[in-house]
Amino acid sequence: MTASYPATRMRRTRATAWSRALHRENVLTPADLVWPLFVTGGQGVEEPVASLPGVSRWSLDGIAARAKEAVALGIPCIALFPNTAADRRSDDGKEALNADNLMCRAIKAIRDACGNDIGVLTDVALDPYTSHGQDGLLDRDGYVVNDETVAVLVDQAVNQAQAGADIVAPSDMMDGRVRAIRMALEMAGQHNVQIMSYAAKYASAFYGPFRDAVGSGGLLKGDKKSYQMDPANGDEALREVALDIAEGADSVMVKPGLPYLDVVRRVKERFDVPVFAYQVSGEYAMIEAAAAAGAGDREALVMETLMAFKRAGCAGVLTYHAPLAARLLGA
Ligand code: PBG
Repeated sequence: MTASYPATRMRRTRATAWSRALHRENVLTPADLVWPLFVTGGQGVEEPVASLPGVSRWSLDGIAARAKEAVALGIPCIALFPNTAADRRSDDGKEALNADNLMCRAIKAIRDACGNDIGVLTDVALDPYTSHGQDGLLDRDGYVVNDETVAVLVDQAVNQAQAGADIVAPSDMMDGRVRAIRMALEMAGQHNVQIMSYAAKYASAFYGPFRDAVGSGGLLKGDKKSYQMDPANGDEALREVALDIAEGADSVMVKPGLPYLDVVRRVKERFDVPVFAYQVSGEYAMIEAAAAAGAGDREALVMETLMAFKRAGCAGVLTYHAPLAARLLGA
């Protein structure tokens, strides 16, 4: 009997560390990371978020310190989310338009601390400012009205840009908001302020800890299904992305992250646009819970999931694990 050998041995290139390094198809660097941070009032305040172990809300001094830490770690961009004081939340969310609100003051604190060494991404949506926790304005039946909401989001985005935001990121899922925001930014002379649209944002069960962090969770009545996408849909995500590109988005986001990597891949294959994904709060909490339960190694879980985003085609990932990942990458 003649010996039989496999025609191809896939294991040959995997046998040694140097060979695995040589054949590696994707790389993750700190420059792929965007670090989301929660802002709160006061001075010298750090409030741990119970449902996000290891994540805190920081007052402005702490936010500036985190921004410096990001620069030192090679993280190019941070995303800001305010926990607005209860007495500044209202039906119409008008605190979003206050030029001296927590968000605007945080942008300026970062600029004072870091100059232009870091990008500041700001969320455009009304949920941190409304007394009902929805991302927009409600009609009498509690329906989030589109065009009236867009008019407010436009002013919110210009307010953030004028405070010094580099990237405004509409996360509201109203129709037509990207074009309206782009036009308003141009008219305000903010030609270089980018728009990263949350183009394919799903009505997800993975946002719970975030809503705790910005204080909107307890306020929210009902759900966000009349504007955020149905998790069953993929083709619809491509239509959303096509519209946002046509309306002037510089980059697009898919959110949540890991459960929607198929959407990332489809967007990447269809469009020549930078695609980002948001590894959201519930995903972070899931990894932390798994590690705490001894179900997996925390650092390995973090790095494997982040590499999966790169493999799927992401230009970058918004992740609460950004500083840990940057450290593990040797920054
Ligand atoms: C709000 C917004 C949400 C997130 C980012 N922007 C929550 C929501 O839509 O209810 C979620 C981020 C996360 O879960 O980490 N417009």
